[in-house]
Amino acid sequence: MKDILKLSIGMLKQGLDKEEILRLINEKLELDHDYNDGTILGSMCTEPLEFGREVYLKYLSKNLGDPGLFPGTATLEKEIVSELGQLFGEQNIIGTLTTGGSEANLIAMRIAKKLHPNIEKPEVVAPESAHISFDKAADLLDIKLRKARLLNNYEVDLTHYKELINENTCGVIGVAGTTSLGLIDPIEEIGNFIKERNIFFHVDAAFGGFVLPFLKYLKYNIKLWDFSVKEVNSITADPHKMGLGLIPTGGFFVRNSQILNKTGFEIPYLAGGNFKHFHIVGTRPGGTVIAFWAIMKYLGLDGFIDVVKRCMENTHFLARKVAEINGIKLAAQPKMNVVGITTENGDSICKIDEELRKKKWMLGKFEDLNLIRVVVMPHVKKEHLAFFIEDLKKISKKLQIS
Ligand SMILES: Cc1ncc(COP(=O)(O)O)c(C=O)c1O
Repeated sequence: MKDILKLSIGMLKQGLDKEEILRLINEKLELDHDYNDGTILGSMCTEPLEFGREVYLKYLSKNLGDPGLFPGTATLEKEIVSELGQLFGEQNIIGTLTTGGSEANLIAMRIAKKLHPNIEKPEVVAPESAHISFDKAADLLDIKLRKARLLNNYEVDLTHYKELINENTCGVIGVAGTTSLGLIDPIEEIGNFIKERNIFFHVDAAFGGFVLPFLKYLKYNIKLWDFSVKEVNSITADPHKMGLGLIPTGGFFVRNSQILNKTGFEIPYLAGGNFKHFHIVGTRPGGTVIAFWAIMKYLGLDGFIDVVKRCMENTHFLARKVAEINGIKLAAQPKMNVVGITTENGDSICKIDEELRKKKWMLGKFEDLNLIRVVVMPHVKKEHLAFFIEDLKKISKKLQIS
């Protein structure tokens, strides 16, 4: 009887004991890769800070989808947003933590459309290097995404970008830390294109948001990318990338507090009372928010600077070593902790990627740009990179001979 039921509905009739369940889970999870073994070189996520994990476990049931029930948690979220807003160059900004960069970018695209009800066929201009989440948002919102091509150095062609702006443009996008190479779009120049025009300007710093402010303290020469550019209306910056937050923790920040009133969704039925929010999701974790508040307090500015400093030291080490290998080269000089690698003679990078995968190195591959890239996250240590370089050298030599 038990077996028949198991077959017909896929669920056990009677539960198993905990030990057996944990054994079954571990058996399956053996397939997973582990940040700490150093082979995950192409992820923008990493192990969260241990203290954040401890805090998170205490507050799993907090639901910020109903903030009236959890006003204390909601206050912590406000404090995070306010402190990060100042880090991004502005006082009194509003915003919210999200499920990630994709949701934050979707929220921004929706606002751009909502603020322009008179545009019948709304368009948004973005560089070709913009993250796939903008394609998703454009599809969901029925917005035409117009993509400005890239130059040979992978930076956006500003002449083309400007040409794409027209009377149907409701929003423009700049990226501060591209997914492929960690490059920073010329945010000030894009701002100039829309000066005095009623066009919503969103900067996607999902990755760069927790790198660039700290690089500034480390005296790197970083061009302006945040709210200090007056035309920038909103920013995506994700704690669950370089902020060492728990998955899922993204972030959406917006300069004008009236935008929530103008464009937010009104939720009338909640136990905690009526409120307006930007979110695509309803129920959403408070635990990750509380954990990130704890992470910010624990690390402080110095702690974040230190994390970025170490990642950059490893980035420079990797970039130096890649430049010494025959047959391959850096796709671009790293601006942050992202290292792109391409072939010297323009051959496809796919073969190298394939060979690296056989040796268990997991990088990101961007076929359209013919590059593979390493994201030098906090879990990537110098000794991992040294092993990686040895394999890369061997593979490059082998492929040149064959
Ligand atoms: C620049 C950029 N924006 C947005 C995203 C999407 O973030 P998420 O995966 O958290 O939705 C990514 C993901 O890597 C990204 O690199």
